[in-house]
Amino acid sequence: MVFSGSSNISLSEKIARQLKLPLSPLEIHIFPDGERRVRVPESVVGKNTVVVQSLAKPVDQNYMEFFFIADALKRSGAENVTAVLPYLGYQRQDHVFRSGEAVSLDVIVKFLEKVGVNNIITFDLHSIKIPEFFHIPIKHLSALSLFAEKIREIGKVANLWDVILVSPDMGGIRRIKILAELLGNVAYCVIEKERDLESGEVRANKLVDLPDNTDLRGKTAVVVDDMISSGGTIAIASEFLEKRGVSEVYVFATHAVFSEDAPKVLSKPSIIKKVFVTDTVCVPKEKQFEKLEILSVSKMIADKLKE
Ligand code: R5P
Repeated sequence: MVFSGSSNISLSEKIARQLKLPLSPLEIHIFPDGERRVRVPESVVGKNTVVVQSLAKPVDQNYMEFFFIADALKRSGAENVTAVLPYLGYQRQDHVFRSGEAVSLDVIVKFLEKVGVNNIITFDLHSIKIPEFFHIPIKHLSALSLFAEKIREIGKVANLWDVILVSPDMGGIRRIKILAELLGNVAYCVIEKERDLESGEVRANKLVDLPDNTDLRGKTAVVVDDMISSGGTIAIASEFLEKRGVSEVYVFATHAVFSEDAPKVLSKPSIIKKVFVTDTVCVPKEKQFEKLEILSVSKMIADKLKE
């Protein structure tokens, strides 16, 4: 039985359709003070259940709703709860950056395990070490193969050999190497980025891993990141590349965790031709913009659920 939280109903519907199952009903009542009451109206005794919830904005609300759904299923006798959490909120807070901070991801993991989740399916985690936080099985999928298909299409127009893959920060080096390999060893480089931990301001310093004698002038850059939040990282990266002669930029990011201003930042006149994201996070109509294209991960999730 497939259940959907309220954060990404369109993705849940697509997954259910791929599985040839209906979405099972859930009652979610919101009290005037904002508290939620969740009820599973149909029998789930002995059933394998799947709950889809993207843990993006409003993050805490979506988490609480998910915990209540999982609890309701377990209390009602579900045999198994598989949590499809295409975007795992708080994943960037995976260690103490400055003394005195909480490790928020660790708290989230405790909640997920305590509430009785049996296993998790998720996408493009910020760090490959995150699964180590969990004591339950976690399947970590990636949108990179979807991106590779699209990049090949762009390559047909722009000639793949004039394309350079770019990671906008050192944290994405593994991701960019995998993608370069998927595309048959396309050239790649990494921008050394610095972020002020207090203000959140981003600065691009220099390019590393650029193959010798690579001339960026006239090249098409494909900038790949795990997520876009404020859009600052992408904007700074494309300005940085433009100064080095790159003529156009295509952006690929798995999670569209768009802040209010992100669509404005990304649609400003620039050398950015297109921004590809996936539906791991639902992008409401008001946050969509002309250069945006949303690719669906529903088939990958459905295939994993069928295994
Ligand atoms: C950071 O390390 C991530 O990989 C992303 O680059 C970052 O979270 C994007 O955030 P923003 O869009 O706010 O720059």
